[in-house]
Amino acid sequence: MSENGRRQDGIEGVGHWLPTTIDTSVAHIARVYDFFLGGKDNFPADREAAARILKGNPGMRDTCREQREYLRRAVRFLAESGIRQFIDIGTGLPTQENTHEVAQKVAPDSRVAYIDNDPIVLAHARVLMADQDHGRTVFIHADAREPGKLLADPTLADVIDFTRPVAILLIGILHFMPDNENPAELISTLLDAVPEGSYLAISHGTPDFAPEIGDAVQAAYQASSMPCRVRTSEEVMALLRGVELVEPGLVLLAEWRPDGPVPEDRQEITYAAVGRKRS
Ligand SMILES: C[S@@+](CC[C@H](N)C(=O)[O-])C[C@H]1O[C@@H](n2cnc3c(N)ncnc32)[C@H](O)[C@@H]1O
Repeated sequence: MSENGRRQDGIEGVGHWLPTTIDTSVAHIARVYDFFLGGKDNFPADREAAARILKGNPGMRDTCREQREYLRRAVRFLAESGIRQFIDIGTGLPTQENTHEVAQKVAPDSRVAYIDNDPIVLAHARVLMADQDHGRTVFIHADAREPGKLLADPTLADVIDFTRPVAILLIGILHFMPDNENPAELISTLLDAVPEGSYLAISHGTPDFAPEIGDAVQAAYQASSMPCRVRTSEEVMALLRGVELVEPGLVLLAEWRPDGPVPEDRQEITYAAVGRKRS
């Protein structure tokens, strides 16, 4: 560590309050997602869980790809709307077009705080830290179930100016928080910490259109010891009560401001929405 508390190995802001042992014998959300996206950072337990999930939803790979595409469009929209600071909670393993890359393409001075509780994401933090010519990017190893602790992390204040608008990204993470982990409190605590003009972008698994698939995916994650709770549009809208949704509102991933024609065979198990903090 240097005198100012930054590590000398290039990884800034790695939290020290979570266990960092990587257990490859149990499936992890980030690695299962990496498998669906065609990545190489997954182990037999993750692939077994993925096989179970694919039985419930054979289109799961498309769902995950659509989610990445939505993340890219949402971050681009936010950067084009003038946002220069992003808190990306539930970062996942680095893949193509990570948040800082998309934001900095629009505005090179964009700053990103990546947050994830998975030690394997921590191990890959260097990739997320790379290419730091312009803006600043930090990674914080922290848990979304403890938003107060996360907001108090000095590394976050180091990169995010809480007097200026911030975009909070909760993409592909809220459905991994059952009701007793209180995703509503997470969102309201985060929104309370950011000023007017800030945004929230989310995606969320749902049983609304294909209940048998939504329920099967939820059961498959749970069977592999990963918490999962798909939610109806009413339940997702209740989580979003602190924001005013921008057009087109709460829609399926592929329908959120698509770059081209929306595929007819789009996946129907995940909602997307971006909203501006209510004054
Ligand atoms: C499906 S991935 C989504 C990655 C990325 N946001 C995307 O949309 O492509 C979900 C991520 O959330 C992380 N995660 C799940 N529960 C979490 C929690 N309580 N705190 C922090 N991160 C969490 C997982 O480790 C995983 O990396």
